[in-house]
Amino acid sequence: MLEALTPQPQDKILVLMAQFREDPRSTKVDLGVGVYKDATGLTPVMRAVKTAEKQLWEREVTKTYTGLAGEPAFHAAMTNLILGPGFADRAAVAATPGGTGALHQALELIKMASPKATVWVSNPTWPNHTSIIRYLGLNIAEYRYFDAASGGIDEPGILADLAKVAKGDVVLLHGCCHNPTGANPSPELWAKVADVLSIRGAIPFVDLAYQGFGDGLEADALATRMIAARFPEVLIAASCSKNFGIYRERTGVLIALSEPSRKAVVQANLAYLNRQNFSFPPDHGARLVTMILEDPVLCADWKAELEEVRLNMLTLRQSLAEELRRATNSDRYDFVAHHRGMFSRLGITQAQVDQLRDTHGIYMVGDSRINIAGLNARTVPILAQAIAAVGG
Ligand code: LMR
Repeated sequence: MLEALTPQPQDKILVLMAQFREDPRSTKVDLGVGVYKDATGLTPVMRAVKTAEKQLWEREVTKTYTGLAGEPAFHAAMTNLILGPGFADRAAVAATPGGTGALHQALELIKMASPKATVWVSNPTWPNHTSIIRYLGLNIAEYRYFDAASGGIDEPGILADLAKVAKGDVVLLHGCCHNPTGANPSPELWAKVADVLSIRGAIPFVDLAYQGFGDGLEADALATRMIAARFPEVLIAASCSKNFGIYRERTGVLIALSEPSRKAVVQANLAYLNRQNFSFPPDHGARLVTMILEDPVLCADWKAELEEVRLNMLTLRQSLAEELRRATNSDRYDFVAHHRGMFSRLGITQAQVDQLRDTHGIYMVGDSRINIAGLNARTVPILAQAIAAVGG
């Protein structure tokens, strides 16, 4: 049987991780995979997470199964973090293995409810979006998103392409901190996008993987909240990997908003899908997140540390934009300071990306996406000079 298998396409982000690991140069710089690192290159366990883990170790008396869709307290805490109060009657919720698990479950739900629907993704988008959509056999289409010339948003392109969406199609939106570009819609553009989707009768599907990494926890949720208030049906896949720094705990949540009368059936379908795919979701990370969000002291400490992380990335952005101005004697990279989140797409060529890796030991994704958090005060000027040296 197994001889029938053929090699699968490799995920370019994971390939890059492996290449970086194998590079023996001590001066190498990793700007690849989206993992936060502090100035020493460490991805720290957040203080509130450590405290919650200690408390959990002392208090936990059983490791028996949780609910099939996870714990109601986790559902409530995450719904409140993302949407604020007022959604209990519309929100069916399931804990999932990471944000990717939530995306997968949402796409499975789409496949069950509306197998002919087309799922629209931004061009570009996170490579695993397109990969999972294709793997599940769903129809896929792209809408323009990024203006490579300015490093900003292609507003006319977005609006023109979304005007072609058919009734009942699903439109995948990055709630904040667009991956891979770092370019994000203004509140005015978000409102226009919502207008178009509403006129077309589309179903918004929000991927929220970086809440708190852009303009702050509340600000980063505003677009998702506006959409939740305007549309009768919305899917939201959220990750706790980045904002709680618990990447390997695989903690995510799928929220499916519907009319209150349909909530029970939607909830039962989310539980069913969990059962078919992996049965019970991982609990440890979800429990830590719930403890942190429910405890005012832990929550304040988590928010303070998350804000430090955010401001650190913002400072790195600003200094990189300044160093690039100096090194290239131009303002063509000023967009780096305006982007938000972990990533910026620099807009240099694949050949220049290869040269940066081979000659300078600087690793970024082939489309020239850099992880800002992979930088520090020492490596910012090194990157800027290397970009100028390869003619970027
Ligand atoms: C990324 O885009 O680098 C992250 O979301 C990590 C991943 O799994 O690709």
